[in-house]
Amino acid sequence: MSSNLNAGVTAPAYVDGRRATKETRFPDTPPFQRAFAPSRYEATIEEVETVGEIPDAINGIYFSMQVDHHMPPMFEEDILFNGDGCVSSFRIANGHVDWKRRYVRTDRFKAESQARQALFGRYRNPYTDDESVRGVIRTAANTNIVFWRGVMLALKEDGPPFALHPTTLETLGRYDFEGQVLAPVFSAHPKFDPATGEMLSFGYQAGGDGNCASRELVYYSINADGVKNHEAWFEMPYAGYIHDFSFTDDWIIFPLTPLKADLERIKKGGNYYAWDPEDCGYFGIAPRSKPSREDIVWVPTKNCFQGHIAGSYQTDNNRLVLDLSMANDNVFWWFPPDGQAAQRKPTTSPMSRYIFDLAKLSSTKVIEPSETVHEIVEFARIDDRFLGKPYRYFWAVSADPSKPYDMERCGPPITGVWNTLIGYDWESGAEQSWYVGATSTLEEPCFIPASPNAREGDGYLVVVIDRLDEMRQDLAIFKAQEVSVGPIGLIRLPLRPRRGFHGNFVEWKDIDDYMRRGGRVATWDLRRRRRGLCLGNLNSSGVKNELEG
Ligand SMILES: [Fe+2]
Repeated sequence: MSSNLNAGVTAPAYVDGRRATKETRFPDTPPFQRAFAPSRYEATIEEVETVGEIPDAINGIYFSMQVDHHMPPMFEEDILFNGDGCVSSFRIANGHVDWKRRYVRTDRFKAESQARQALFGRYRNPYTDDESVRGVIRTAANTNIVFWRGVMLALKEDGPPFALHPTTLETLGRYDFEGQVLAPVFSAHPKFDPATGEMLSFGYQAGGDGNCASRELVYYSINADGVKNHEAWFEMPYAGYIHDFSFTDDWIIFPLTPLKADLERIKKGGNYYAWDPEDCGYFGIAPRSKPSREDIVWVPTKNCFQGHIAGSYQTDNNRLVLDLSMANDNVFWWFPPDGQAAQRKPTTSPMSRYIFDLAKLSSTKVIEPSETVHEIVEFARIDDRFLGKPYRYFWAVSADPSKPYDMERCGPPITGVWNTLIGYDWESGAEQSWYVGATSTLEEPCFIPASPNAREGDGYLVVVIDRLDEMRQDLAIFKAQEVSVGPIGLIRLPLRPRRGFHGNFVEWKDIDDYMRRGGRVATWDLRRRRRGLCLGNLNSSGVKNELEG
């Protein structure tokens, strides 16, 4: 009897949408095939190939977070967002670059590694999980990677942070800010006030286990010494989606999107979210210092999908300015309205400037943008030294539909075709842009100042370019004021990390300072170890997991 495997004839890996084979095979769907397929490796490269200029002024590590399923998913229609967090680090010094890539060893990752198969089901839905992982922290820590007091925190909004060593990328364990942050969820977009050194952060749908459609919203301010200044709990108008947030000297701002969780639907094994095309979005605005539950004002806006925030600040005439990408429809088309099939449709997402009159917050009926820039903009970043303050420049990626995309060579895109890098000057209205070509896409830009005291916007951008046809990745370096010139240097990886979401640059002196002090934070696991408890596979309540026996 002869095999017909060589002719590509196989039994289906998924039956009725559910994994039905002992083979290790990924779904035959766009998020798991060709240039967007999981890459699933860890690697180290000493002296990465470079071309052009790698400025001597850049001395630090650029960390980028990718989403990379390390096991075939339980469900065939699984989405990119449900993949495991995997971190790349580019150590750049004296014009040379070393590169490293490691998975975040979350509790989820470790449980699935041990079982050699996926045990966690649909995105944010514990009712679809294997019984063996009940109570295990579900987060894949796959969205953002930020520096905090000597460690890197891998973040995803459905669970707690996981801490990584900044140079080895070893996962140190779950981090709860030395017992000060106990909500089950923590945002992937904490903000750092350059004036005070504080971390400001939040968790939404933060009641219960964090996956039960609660309307609770928690806010934290943690000072530069790691001590919590404030914790406040608010109630959202509905159990919606708050991905990013922002702050000014005196205020905090939460954009609430009508992508709604419903516990009954979740319990039935359905999507965590459903888009509500009828309801309005909101901006929750509260005092930054010691707010109470009643202090938040939810200012309505039209039905919309709020994207990433560029910046926010207060003005002398008691106004609050907020700049963010604002989509006109459901960007997460894979979470359709209840009863409807998922169907991709084009959206616009201009950079939109909202100006709130702080004296009339509660009486504002519907806030509209006072100004918009560009038609489709996302992943905007500014010079982080100006977070919370008036600022002049932002950089972002754009999906320019007038530019070609080579579908034949690259396959169907699973996210926006981010084909253009833009730089915008609010003061002059001038915009620069650079098109990456028909076979590549761009990831979020990150600004690096030319020197600590450089004027705003004087420095460089680092931007990941996914070379879809070559199945590899570049890290491109631009002069921030000369975007349209194109990259001045390329760091050329010979490998293809799966595409990611966010990245951040950390100056070497900041990492070195903490290393010299030996004063890294104490992770949750480390504290348990010090107390002489068996680590095993602990769940969020500190109870030894059934998997470990
Ligand atoms: Fe994000």
